[in-house]
Amino acid sequence: MTVVLLISGSTRAASTNSAALRTVSAIAPDAIGTRWYDDLAALPAFNPDDDGSAHPSVLALREQISDADAVLFCTPEYAGTLPGSLKNLLDWTVGTGDLYEKPVAWITVAPLGRGDGAAATLRSVLGYVGADIHLEACGRLPVLREDVGPDGLVVADEFRSGALDLLGRLVRHAQRATP
Ligand SMILES: Cc1cc2nc3c(=O)[nH]c(=O)nc-3n(C[C@H](O)[C@H](O)[C@H](O)COP(=O)(O)O)c2cc1C
Repeated sequence: MTVVLLISGSTRAASTNSAALRTVSAIAPDAIGTRWYDDLAALPAFNPDDDGSAHPSVLALREQISDADAVLFCTPEYAGTLPGSLKNLLDWTVGTGDLYEKPVAWITVAPLGRGDGAAATLRSVLGYVGADIHLEACGRLPVLREDVGPDGLVVADEFRSGALDLLGRLVRHAQRATP
């Protein structure tokens, strides 16, 4: 089974980005094991002095990345770039190389003309840490707040089929990349 770790850059309870990834998890075929990363708000502020830290949230993050064959991100844009909490998560992976050569992609749920600063920064940081960015699995699938149903999932068929396509691309890439 190919395991994909889903990381949302939003800590908001009614987040559209988290709803998008929850939907990916709900509709993924059985052969894909999705794992939900839900500890973003609990990560301590990155401090290089603590990089060898035994902080349980940092250890859990590194373990979840290590256990995954690929990572799929979905993040809002704050002030033209990544939310600080997601950049903080990524900073914890720099020194230990957790994302090095890890197949990664992202879904942008912001409407056209928005969210490009976050996507560009994500690409830049993931490039810096040496992640295996699979651009063919990255795409924009807009999700409005009203697109999220009472069960917390994105209702629109267009989103669901687009998300399955991107997930499939990432998984096939990860399978090819695995020796
Ligand atoms: C502090 C803050 C800053 C934001 N800055 C931007 C921005 O620079 N560009 C943008 O397109 N949207 C910006 N937004 C809008 C969010 O990206 C948008 O509300 C998004 O849907 C939030 O994602 P979520 O629903 O997953 O929490 C900002 C929102 C907040 C709260």
